[in-house]
Amino acid sequence: MKVLVTGASGNVGSYVVKELLNQGEKVVAAGTNIEKLKKLFGEQVDAVTFDFTDKTTYNEALKGVDRVFLMRPPHLGKPEDLYPFIDLMKAYNIRLVSFLSLMGVENNTIPPHYKIEKYIEKTGLPYAHIRPGFFMQNISGIHSVEIREKNEIFVPAGNSKTSFIDAADIGLAVATLLHDPEKYINTAHTITGAEALDYYEVAEILSKVTKRKITYKKPGYLKYRSYYIKNRGLEKEYVNVTVALYFMTRMGTAKKVTNTLFELTGRKPKTFENFVRDNIDCFVSRK
Ligand SMILES: NC(=O)c1ccc[n+]([C@@H]2O[C@H](COP(=O)([O-])OP(=O)(O)OC[C@H]3O[C@@H](n4cnc5c(N)ncnc54)[C@H](OP(=O)(O)O)[C@@H]3O)[C@@H](O)[C@H]2O)c1
Repeated sequence: MKVLVTGASGNVGSYVVKELLNQGEKVVAAGTNIEKLKKLFGEQVDAVTFDFTDKTTYNEALKGVDRVFLMRPPHLGKPEDLYPFIDLMKAYNIRLVSFLSLMGVENNTIPPHYKIEKYIEKTGLPYAHIRPGFFMQNISGIHSVEIREKNEIFVPAGNSKTSFIDAADIGLAVATLLHDPEKYINTAHTITGAEALDYYEVAEILSKVTKRKITYKKPGYLKYRSYYIKNRGLEKEYVNVTVALYFMTRMGTAKKVTNTLFELTGRKPKTFENFVRDNIDCFVSRK
């Protein structure tokens, strides 16, 4: 039987696919853009067109599948967007669903992940929730523009600390859970990097590795929100969610450090400094 990976072209999903293949699993890689999937994985996987908002794509994705990596695409803000697919999984003989959730969600009912976890549990599907801290890919992705172009980090995180984790480490942890489904039935795993850093420390590491002076600007929420909507042209709904997440971060919800990755996989989390070294191109001017 195969493992279905939703969001297979995404930050985490792409590593889930890679690690499942390393473990000898057969993988169905799913997303709305099949060409992207074929380009990424070639003949190594079965690529299927899958859209949470289009029920007609569900059955094809679940054919021959007995385990699922489930993720919520960031622009699908309503938990209900995932419910029809969760309901249908119940009709298949799914042995484990590993849902990409969020650190601290067990004590925070606001993010959609809370309701999605509860919904999965209510259906009776065997689950292994994975609850990661902030991805290092936020810095090399969405926030890298200001780093490249202005030598600035522009996030409203105040003086708070964050235990950043590499999406590659999350991918390995998820593949470990799905490879041994009976062992992890009805469990939840909070997974973080090895250290909690504030954004001044993030700037220091970026400066050291890039050999440029990179500064943490520490904007307020309103300045950040207006800049990302007006100057960067990002969707209001998406920016509002990130404001809420940085608000939570300032409350101290992002700083916890766990040993979960090592306990699950025997691998130590990648440090932020090594992540920057390995992804240096993301931080270097493209002009
Ligand atoms: N960033 C963080 O620090 C952080 C921390 C904890 C939890 N999370 C959670 O992690 C999740 C995001 O994971 P990620 O960063 O790996 O995702 P991502 O890189 O943003 O990728 C999104 C994926 O969703 C697919 N997709 C888009 N629309 C779809 C649709 N309608 N139906 C099915 N698939 C669709 C995309 O593929 P196609 O283009 O092919 O459709 C893509 O593979 C979110 O739920 C977020 O809240 C994030």
